[in-house]
Amino acid sequence: MTAPLRVAIAGLGTVGGHVCALLEKNRTLLEQRAERPVQLVGICARNKKKARPFTRTTIPWFSDPCAMIDETNCDVAVELIGGEDGIARTFVEHALNKKCSVVTANKALLAKHGKHLFPLAEKQGCALAFEAAVGGGIPIIKSLRESLSGNHIYRITAILNGTCNYILSQMRAQRRSFQDVLEEAQRLGYAEADPSVDIDGFDAAHKLALLAALAWGTLDIDSLTIDGIRTITAEDMALSEKMGYRLKHIAQAYPAKTTIHQSVQTCLVRQDHALAHVDGVFNAVTFLSDFCGELTLIGLGAGGDATASAVVSDILDLARGSHEHPSRVVLTATPTFPQARIPTTETMPYYVRLHVDDRPGVLAEIATTLAHEHISIETAWQQATEQNDVATLVIITHPSPSPSMHKAFAAVGTLKPVRQAPCLLPIINA
Ligand SMILES: NC(=O)c1ccc[n+]([C@@H]2O[C@H](COP(=O)([O-])OP(=O)(O)OC[C@H]3O[C@@H](n4cnc5c(N)ncnc54)[C@H](OP(=O)(O)O)[C@@H]3O)[C@@H](O)[C@H]2O)c1
Repeated sequence: MTAPLRVAIAGLGTVGGHVCALLEKNRTLLEQRAERPVQLVGICARNKKKARPFTRTTIPWFSDPCAMIDETNCDVAVELIGGEDGIARTFVEHALNKKCSVVTANKALLAKHGKHLFPLAEKQGCALAFEAAVGGGIPIIKSLRESLSGNHIYRITAILNGTCNYILSQMRAQRRSFQDVLEEAQRLGYAEADPSVDIDGFDAAHKLALLAALAWGTLDIDSLTIDGIRTITAEDMALSEKMGYRLKHIAQAYPAKTTIHQSVQTCLVRQDHALAHVDGVFNAVTFLSDFCGELTLIGLGAGGDATASAVVSDILDLARGSHEHPSRVVLTATPTFPQARIPTTETMPYYVRLHVDDRPGVLAEIATTLAHEHISIETAWQQATEQNDVATLVIITHPSPSPSMHKAFAAVGTLKPVRQAPCLLPIINA
């Protein structure tokens, strides 16, 4: 039998602890599938006394992650500490500089420093594998890199953050406020004590940037439009339902004229869209490609077991000796655009919700203001509120360019009959 694959793991928390548990529990199965043993030659975390979900008496313990790489002479260094800088970055760079392949679940690190780390891995002839960094247990990276490798990717549309999806799902199902559901999510462990990385869209943005890097060879987190779910109200949730849509936190990327459009924001999604029914902590991604058409993957986007499953799949690829690792990212100076693009995405319809004076002529004034920017109305729906002189007005526009829509929306917000800050949300039309 071939020599064991020597694996050292830094970080034994939610993910790392379960990776060790999986390696322990399924040891025989993994050995059969890799046709060689996978041997844990070192583990490292901050607190040696903390209880972990695996038996660790025989595995050498290290308190310094980089020293663990030096002293174990490992083949694979697994980074499960987290954080976009600090020790996680030092550990990954140290491993690659020593020609040791890396497996990580750290999307924040790769989105920020991938431009440096992916070429470093290439130069050193090592793998830098990250199946677990996007969509937890869902095999998103391998599907994109392997199963769709013969296709041009036209568009990626995804729900990439379980915390946002859980909160929006609960707000809709139970007609509760954002704050109320967020507090519940924190009690249940679905949201961090400081939830901003999730609910302000940064976590989904990191993941989307990595998918765009794989699809089009460009990694550019700075060009992303990032918005979260803090401002979503129970009223907009109910009104969008009434209009035949569902509110979802959507990550979307596609080649536009000269760049890759990348955005993460709350959108309206038609109720018959595949992503409209992905609820709770689940994640999903839809790839649209030239030969395979639409492919949607749904599953657990986080959690110790599901994420450990993805980490171990990367370890097994390395044990099998995959010369070119499925997660290999080749960044190019010029993004690889599909030659025949589907021309659907430069414009999109919008949802506009307003509270306005309930008197004749108000809708006409708003329509005229929108028309100044060539925005036309597809549907308008109005209802009186409990306040006698105020009405709720919802407008669905025809597909419109984003700059014109935002300009028109700003102008509408200054009109005298408009009572409170209005709401503008894009509608996914593909
Ligand atoms: N949690 C998920 O569901 C999930 C899903 C997908 C991806 N990820 C990614 O996976 C990575 C790990 O997340 P996690 O949830 O497992 O984090 P976590 O539970 O906070 O675990 C972090 C681990 O790192 C160890 N650590 C921290 N600082 C260290 C240092 N200086 N030296 C050595 N060890 C150190 C901690 O040690 P102690 O245990 O001793 O404190 C802990 O074991 C992150 O990049 C995260 O974004 C997580």
